Amino acid sequence: MNVLIAIYAKTEFPKNIALAIQEVFAAQGWNVSIEEIVPVKKLKEFEYDKLEFVQLKNSNCDVSSYDLIVIGSGIWSFSPSKVLLSYLKKLQNTKDKNFAVYVTCILSGNSLKKISNILTTQGAKVVETVSFRSFFENDKSKIKEAKLFADSLVKKLKP
Ligand SMILES: Cc1cc2nc3c(=O)[nH]c(=O)nc-3n(C[C@H](O)[C@H](O)[C@H](O)COP(=O)(O)O)c2cc1C
Repeated sequence: MNVLIAIYAKTEFPKNIALAIQEVFAAQGWNVSIEEIVPVKKLKEFEYDKLEFVQLKNSNCDVSSYDLIVIGSGIWSFSPSKVLLSYLKKLQNTKDKNFAVYVTCILSGNSLKKISNILTTQGAKVVETVSFRSFFENDKSKIKEAKLFADSLVKKLKP
């Protein structure tokens, strides 16, 4: 299985979750790449919100070579950030692809639903979503939860 974990992370929290998921998948012999979503211009988060579309450094957003794409991000003002939304819009060949989505947050509102709706509108299959809720970016209990999330994806998707 070829897996992409695409994350928008300003702290270590979404990254630590991505590394825990990668560890579980790698133990299955799955090939996992972690890619950070990076805006061309570094602005304050509320400044991105004023833009229609945030230009990203990520040039190849074609997911056709992956069997699973995991999207991970923090939550800003109860919503997915403009940076993440711009990345989702940029994705190509999402039709019938398996996606899983996680957010790191305290309260995510309906962010997971919003992200899932965008992906399903693009023809993707959202197989699992989860929010890892903590005030701490190095919360060990969330690493455990991330591994359980990855185990569940393995069970669902193992060929
Ligand atoms: C300006 C700002 C707004 C935030 N808004 C929310 C929010 O609405 N809901 C929430 O659960 N967390 C909120 N957070 C916390 C972050 O989502 C959370 O710490 C997340 O893990 C950060 O991920 P990051 O690495 O992308 O910063 C906010 C943090 C900041 C700094």
